[in-house]
Amino acid sequence: MRYGLRCTRCGAATRDYSSFRCHVCHSILEIEYSYASAKLPKNFRKQKISTSKYLPFFPVASIAASLGEGGTPLVRKSKIGAGSDLYLKMETENPTNTFKDRGSVIEITKALELNFSHVCCASTGNMGLSVAYYAKRHGIGATIFISSDADRIKIKKIEAQGARTVMVKGDFNKALKEAESFATRNKAFVCGDYHYRKEGQKSIGFEIAEQLGYEVPDYIFMPVGNATLISSIYKSLREFRRFGLISRMPKLMGVQSKGCDPVVRAFEEGTDIAYMVPRTIADAIAVGYPTFGFECMRALKETRGVAIAVSDDEIKDARKELARNGVKAEAGGATAYAGFKAFSRNGRGLDGKRAVVIVSGNN
Ligand code: F0G
Repeated sequence: MRYGLRCTRCGAATRDYSSFRCHVCHSILEIEYSYASAKLPKNFRKQKISTSKYLPFFPVASIAASLGEGGTPLVRKSKIGAGSDLYLKMETENPTNTFKDRGSVIEITKALELNFSHVCCASTGNMGLSVAYYAKRHGIGATIFISSDADRIKIKKIEAQGARTVMVKGDFNKALKEAESFATRNKAFVCGDYHYRKEGQKSIGFEIAEQLGYEVPDYIFMPVGNATLISSIYKSLREFRRFGLISRMPKLMGVQSKGCDPVVRAFEEGTDIAYMVPRTIADAIAVGYPTFGFECMRALKETRGVAIAVSDDEIKDARKELARNGVKAEAGGATAYAGFKAFSRNGRGLDGKRAVVIVSGNN
């Protein structure tokens, strides 16, 4: 589809496709497609799920950087979540064990299109690992900015991909500032929670709709850190609805840890999102001020979804229960299931309603 880049705040358009923020007001950019002139192939519904199938919905010329991401199982679970029609979307089955690969394939494809030889990214761990993995396999250098308090295993895994890591004294939001300033000084392509990643991660929403025969579930529960995942899913389903592939929207349910729940607080108090110092065992989603917070609030409101906070103990219990049922997930990866349990009459179900819970990662 034809597309352009526009600022989400001041509306300024830009033709510089390597921009990571608005040149005028420095806010987050959005990819705008010319939907009216677009047509999907006639056999779209019948085509097998793959990243290339969704090329019409991505801002790249071809999927040059694909490494077999996506197409993850949607598994029905009748033993857990009794009283609901529960499905788990197994994002742990991606090449680097998280949904992040869906965004990295589009970012690295774009970096190749624009002839960049180096990328950088701020991360709590998983996104940095995914970017490093895709960059390495396509001959691109990577510098990952990560909090010096981040999970040791994740830092080791990133370095094992040949990426340079820069330890930042401070949290994710501090790392983000450093990555952006590195990019400007070194002409590196910026990967991370910006518009291209948001586009790539839409495939998770497309797949959920397809795997359920183009009938969306009543609820989708997902973890919220930087809020790109929820923004991606929201956009994907609105696009599928626009093309007549689905007829309604599910309720989007955003789950955070009580130790880092700026979205839940804003949702409950009806205020703007305010930064908070993250303190949680769910290190993947320890983001004190989410980049896509504004979009998350819109997704929650317009789908009549709910923002849910769960304690670290609830996350630990959710992780154990998943493990007992053969599903391995890290704390952040089990957070959506903890939210599902907390919301569904303390685990006793959602009165037969269909729910998809995203098991987002296992590093
Ligand atoms: N689950 C996992 C396993 C994650 O790693 C993340 C984010 C999320 C959920 C939340 O997604 O940020 O789009 O709302 N991890 C980022 C990172 C922050 O750097 O790996 P989000």
